[in-house]
Formats: sequence, C-alpha cells, structure tokens
Amino acid sequence: MTAPAPTREHWGSRFGFILAAAGSAIGLGNIWKFPYITYENGGGSFVLIYLACIALVGFPIMISEIIIGRRSQQSTVSGFLALSKNKWWALVGALGIASGFAILSFYSVVAGWTIYYFGECIGWSFGGFDETDLNAHFGAFVSNGTLQVLFHSIFMGVTIGVVAMGVKGGIERIAKTLMPILMGILVLLCLNSMQTEGFGEAMRFLFTPGEFTKDGALEALGHAFFTLSLGMGAMITYGSYMSKKDPIAGSAVLICILDTLIALMACVIMFSIIFSVEDKGQFTKSAAILFTTLPQLFYDLPFGNILSPIFYALVAMAALTSTISLLEVVTAFFIDQLNWHRVKAAITVGLVIYSIGILCALSNGANATLSSIQPLGDRSTGVFGLLDYLSANWMLPVGGLGIAIFVGWFLPSEASREELATEKGPFRTYGLWQFLVRFVCPAAIAAILVAVVLGRKFN
Ligand code: PHE
Repeated sequence: MTAPAPTREHWGSRFGFILAAAGSAIGLGNIWKFPYITYENGGGSFVLIYLACIALVGFPIMISEIIIGRRSQQSTVSGFLALSKNKWWALVGALGIASGFAILSFYSVVAGWTIYYFGECIGWSFGGFDETDLNAHFGAFVSNGTLQVLFHSIFMGVTIGVVAMGVKGGIERIAKTLMPILMGILVLLCLNSMQTEGFGEAMRFLFTPGEFTKDGALEALGHAFFTLSLGMGAMITYGSYMSKKDPIAGSAVLICILDTLIALMACVIMFSIIFSVEDKGQFTKSAAILFTTLPQLFYDLPFGNILSPIFYALVAMAALTSTISLLEVVTAFFIDQLNWHRVKAAITVGLVIYSIGILCALSNGANATLSSIQPLGDRSTGVFGLLDYLSANWMLPVGGLGIAIFVGWFLPSEASREELATEKGPFRTYGLWQFLVRFVCPAAIAAILVAVVLGRKFN
C-alpha cells in the first residue's frame, strides 16, 4: 500500500475543482463530436437517450471515480493500490494511463486544427472569404505534415506548461480564467443564433423525439464516457486534490449539467447556422463538419466576420482544459508512484505523448504508410484512426466497467458512505447511487462491449 503523501496539493476552493473538472469534461467531445453524431443519428431521440445515459451511467460513475481519488488521496494506479489489498485492481488504473497516452496523442492534433482555423478565420474576416472550397482546403491542411506537426507542437507545448505549473497555480488558474470566457462566448453565440432563420428548425430537430435506433443508443452511451472524461481516471486524479469538506455528488451533478448544457448549446449554435442555409445539400455529414462546413456558413451570416474567429478561439480553449486533464492523469501517476518532481514528470511524459502524436499528425495523408495502416482490419485506418477507435470503443468502457465494479462491489460500503456523508438535499439518497453503480452501470457498459465485439463502431 502506498501511504498518501502528506504534502499533496489541493484545489484552492470547491469552485476551483468544479471549474477544472468541467474544463476536463467540456472539450472537443462537446463541440466537435456531439453535434456531428446528433446530426447523424437524427436528433431528438438520440438527445433523449444521451441525456438518460449521462444521468443513469455517467453521473454515478463520476461519483465513483471521485470517491476513489478523494478517499485514497492518490491518482489512478496508486489510488486502487491504496484502497484494495488485491493488486490486480491496479490494472484498471494502468489501463487509464494507457488511455491518457492514446487519447491525448490524437486529441492534441485536432486541438491544433482549432488554432489553425482561428488564424484562417481572422485572415478571412479581414481579407474576405473568397468562397474557398473548404473540403479541399481542409484536405490540403491535414495532409500537410509540417503544418500538422507545427500546430500539434503548439498545443502540446502549452499543455505541458500548464501541467508543470501545478494543480492550483496551473490547472485551476487556467480553468478559472478560460471557463467563464468560454461560457460567455457560448451564450453570446446562442443569443445570436436565436436571431437566425434556422433557430426554430434547430430546436425542433434537437428536442422533438423521432425514430429510435439501437445503434444510436449504444453510441450515446459510449459518448457519455468520452464527454464526461470517464473511464480513465481523470476524475480519480482530480478528485484526489479535492477537500474532504466538499460534497462529491453535489459537485458531480454540476459538472454533468454544465457539460450537457454546453453540448446542447453547441448543437443549437451549429444547427441554427446549418438550417438557415437554403441548400442543405452543401452540408457534409462528416466528422470534419466543424472545419469543412461551418466556416462557409458563418460567412453567409450577419456578423460572421466577427463570430467565426471567436468561435474557433472558444473551441481551442475548451480543448486546452481537456488536454491538460489528459496529461495530468499520466503526470500524477509518475509523481505519486515514482516520486518524480512535477516539472520533470510533465515534461518527460508530455514529450513521449508528443512523439506518438507526431505519428497521428502525419497519419491524415502526410505520410502514406502511417495514413493507411490497418492493424485491426478496416474498422480503423491510420495511426490517428487506430488510437481514436481503440480508446472510444475499448479503453474507456472497459475502464468504466472496472471502476463501477470496484466501487460498487469491492470497496467497503462504509468507505463510500463516509465519502458521501457531507451531501445535502436530494443527493443524500445513497441507496439509489449504489443501485446504479452495482447494477445499471455494469449492465449498460456490458451492452456496449458486446455490441463492439459484434462489430459496432463508436466514433
Ligand atoms: N471530455 C473531453 C471532451 O469531451 C475528452 C476527454 C476524455 C478528456 C477523457 C479527458 C479524459 O472533449
């Protein structure tokens, strides 16, 4: 067993924890992935199932992760070792560390795209948007190795810098600065989208239940993990810096609500723009919609010149508070388990992830071999596709299953009861949470995994 370090750094306040954790949760998953999968899955019903997954699976697992972290005062691997005599549980933590490596290396590449498009939009705003063929533009950009590595380097550099500055001075400070700006910009963009012609249709599309598909249900569950940063120990690590006085469930509920609100607002903004345009045929149903369709639509709107760079700056900020949490999970492991100094851990781990990220950066066309490898068959192509596929389909759900079983069945009830003792109001219902973690979460995750085995792809 590893004794908790007496000098462990903590968040400055409960608010600091909530903003940092919401910063981790709110990211490309909300603004890039959620609108796209919602569109693909037909809107209303998908949104409803997604909301149910957040409430019935995401929320209880987030509480479980924070319990592990706060109880043990340790990050992911040492947290399991501190709470259980059975060393095998450390494997769940180790899987989380591996997920951190995998997700951050491709996530940072996409995050880099947002900075590039911020710059492009500024250029278009001043120089005029010349009806560029955005598909070709995007294709040329992602296959330009130099640009891909350059923007990935910028993003990883900033991420490493913030993590090296520590929990309170780095992570919490950045979250407290960026999150309010991000929410402010989103509200502004939302208000603006209410003035557009497509607003009504966007609302109907999002909130009127339509046809229901089994695939959509499974995709919604997989996305609930990704968007709430669950299944890999990010909330274990952030929970380990939380004060014993603060309520866990009462904070988790705010994080889930903020994450969901922002995902829905991103949809309202994007769909209002999309539905305002007469010819929706020009809108490509692809994962690249954020970069191929949106800029053009922006420039068709009043104030598009001002709104579009602001929008990409917002996505970049949201991505940064998520990349920070991904790097922190791995950095904290080296600090807690190997006693490394924070700066050394952040830089070393950051550079390793950066190097794997270069392979991802070059695998969207820049390098033929890296772009075409299919070690798992045609389910995923290229290094980027492979890491995206492995993490979303396997690593997060398996990690989440491990966490739910550990906290639901192996951690003594007295421990979780004690951690949840300071809850107030409706969150005092311990039995409901325990029922969800013991039965509902494992059953739902098992359903995803079986579906994956049977060949369903989740990205
Ligand atoms: N939740 C982040 C997003 O929605 C991604 C993420 C996953 C961050 C796992 C940390 C851990 O973009």
